Amino acid sequence: MELLTVSLQSYHFRDEFESGQIVLDDYLKKQANQDIKKRVSACFVLTHQEQSLEKVKGYYTLSSTSIPRELIPSELEKKFPKSYQTIPATLLGRLARDKTVIGTGQGEKLLIDALYRSHLAAKEVGSFAVVVDPIDEKAESFYLDYGFKKLPDSGKLFLAMKTIDQLFG
Ligand SMILES: CC(C)(COP(=O)(O)OP(=O)(O)OC[C@H]1O[C@@H](n2cnc3c(N)ncnc32)[C@H](O)[C@@H]1OP(=O)(O)O)[C@@H](O)C(=O)NCCC(=O)NCCS
Repeated sequence: MELLTVSLQSYHFRDEFESGQIVLDDYLKKQANQDIKKRVSACFVLTHQEQSLEKVKGYYTLSSTSIPRELIPSELEKKFPKSYQTIPATLLGRLARDKTVIGTGQGEKLLIDALYRSHLAAKEVGSFAVVVDPIDEKAESFYLDYGFKKLPDSGKLFLAMKTIDQLFG
């Protein structure tokens, strides 16, 4: 049965969600709904919609952010008007799959879904890239495998929206 990605609702069951990163599990269980209500973050979950108890098998969050221009690699930075001190971007703040679906490609599925939503949103509200802040080295190598580049001196990585646009035509 295929897992689908939908926006988080109060009826989504997440008490048993376990990704291996407690901080990401706690966020989903305790804070995600509040952030949605405050409009600081949007949260999308991977779930079996056909089942009566819609258990969350993965999730990610998206919000707006801005990157100080001095962090942007010089070949890209030169392209922005001098008046822009910060450059608008999309923050993929958190992404995790549940331990029950390890090794089934759900991380990739969540990432592609997040990039697609970011691509659609950037047609309406400007964003030069999707930015991530990996929780550890394994997470960093996951994003590097999909073409993310390092934002110097920040620990963050980015994928240019132009590159993402090419993925979705
Ligand atoms: C980072 C993360 C999203 C990557 O997800 P993923 O690529 O789907 O990988 P999983 O962790 O589910 O699976 C682990 C293994 O299955 C492999 N795998 C991934 N897709 C696969 C597929 N379709 N078929 C078979 N194996 C697959 C991975 O390569 C990995 O192998 P490795 O450990 O030998 O490198 C996931 O590990 C995760 O949620 N971790 C905890 C939270 C976290 O660190 N989030 C990072 C964002 S800050």
